[in-house]
Amino acid sequence: MDTHPFGMEILSCENRLSRFHTHICRPLSALKGQFADQAAYNQMLRTGDPVVYEVYEVLRPVVAGELPHGLSIVHPGRVGDEYFMTKGHFHSVRDTAEIYHCLKGHGLLLMQNEGGEWATEELRPGRLVYVAPGWAHRSINLSETEDLVTFFVYPGHAGHDYEAIERRGFLKLVVQCDGTFRVVDNRVGSGVVER
Ligand code: F6R
Ligand code: ZN
Repeated sequence: MDTHPFGMEILSCENRLSRFHTHICRPLSALKGQFADQAAYNQMLRTGDPVVYEVYEVLRPVVAGELPHGLSIVHPGRVGDEYFMTKGHFHSVRDTAEIYHCLKGHGLLLMQNEGGEWATEELRPGRLVYVAPGWAHRSINLSETEDLVTFFVYPGHAGHDYEAIERRGFLKLVVQCDGTFRVVDNRVGSGVVER
C-alpha cells in the first residue's frame, strides 16, 4: 500500500469519495435479526431487498499508527417503526476510539459499552461525535426522505467485532412515534425474549 501522503475530495453531490478502495452495499437481507419487528422485516423482504446503507472506505495497513477512513451513507426508511440503521459493532481492540463527522441528513449515533451503559448523540451537518474506546456504535437515519452521510476515521489496528451485537442486539431501539423519534428498551437485548 502506498505510504505517501495523499489528498481527496468528498463528492457531496454523489455521496462518495474521489478515491477509495472498497464500496460496500448492505441490503436489508444482510440485517437479518437486527430489527425488532420481524414480521415487518419479512414482509418488506417479500417485495424487494432495498439497500439500507453503503460504505466507501480508504483502507490502510492494520497498524496502530494508521487511520482508515471513509463515508457511511444510511438511506432513509423504516422496518415497522424502527429506522434504517447500520449493523453496529464494537472494535475488536476495545481500547480504540472513532470520530464521526456528519455531512448531511439527520440521525443518531447509538452507543453502548460492555458495562451496560448506553448513550446517543445526534448527527446533523457539521456535528462531530467522538465514540470513546470500548463503546459499540450504530448509525441510525432519523429522516424519512434524506440520506444520513457521515465521514468516519478510526485507528488502523481497531478491527471490527460484530458478533456481540448480532447475538443480543443493542440495549435500545430507536423508533418513530407520533412524528418524532423515541429511544426505547430493546426487550430482546435485555434477554426477555429470544430473537
Ligand atoms: C468503522 C465504522 C464505520 C462503520 C460503517 C458501517 O469502524 O464504525 O465505518 O463500519 O458506518 O457500519 P457497520 O460496520 O456497523 O456495518
Ligand atoms: Zn467503528
